[in-house]
Amino acid sequence: MRPRLLAIVFAGLVAGALLALLTLPGLREGAANLASGRQTAGKALVGGPFRLTDHTGKAVTDADYRGRYMLIYFGYTFCPDVCPAGLQVISAALDQLGDKAGRVAPLFITLDPARDTPAKLAEYVGSFNPRIVGLTGSAEEIAEVAKAFRVYSKKVADAKSPGDYTLDHTSIIYLMDPKGEFVTHFTHLTNVDQLVAQLRKVL
Ligand code: NI
Repeated sequence: MRPRLLAIVFAGLVAGALLALLTLPGLREGAANLASGRQTAGKALVGGPFRLTDHTGKAVTDADYRGRYMLIYFGYTFCPDVCPAGLQVISAALDQLGDKAGRVAPLFITLDPARDTPAKLAEYVGSFNPRIVGLTGSAEEIAEVAKAFRVYSKKVADAKSPGDYTLDHTSIIYLMDPKGEFVTHFTHLTNVDQLVAQLRKVL
C-alpha cells in the first residue's frame, strides 16, 4: 500500500470513528424511528441544507431530493483510486436494488469545484451509472456543504506533474432519510452486499 493511500485510509478510519461518536445518539434515534415508523424529531448532527449545481447545470438544493433517501458521497473526478472504487460500489448497489433504486438519490458532491464543472461531472458520473447525480458549486458553496457533512479535504501538489494537484479527502458514504436527516454512514471498506442490505432495510 502506497504511503498516500495509507494516509487516506487512516484519515478515513479516524473520521469514521469520530463520526460514530458524533452520530451515536442519531443512530440510536434513527434505529428506534425505523423500528417504530415514527418520524425523526431530533436534529441531525451531520448534514444540512445545501445549494449547488447539478451536472446538467441546473441549480438545486437539498429540498429537491426530499421524499427520497439521499446517498451522498464526496470526492473529485481526478481522484486516482478511492473515488472510483466508492462510485463503483454505489453503482453496483443501485443496479441490485432494481426498481427500488428510484427511491434513492445518489449524489456525488465534488470537493474540487475549480476543475469539476457540470460538464466534467456529467461525463464522470455517467461513466459509472446514469442514476448518479454529480453536484458542484462555488468554492464557498462546496466549503459549506463539506463542513455540514464534516468532510475533510486537502490539496496536495502532484510530484509527477508540476502545477497539478490531488486531494486527500474523507471517503464516507452518507445515507440521509427522505426528510434529509442522517440515518447512517458507510466507509470505503463497505462492500456492495452490505450497502444493498442496509438500503433494503429502509426502502
Ligand atoms: Ni477520491
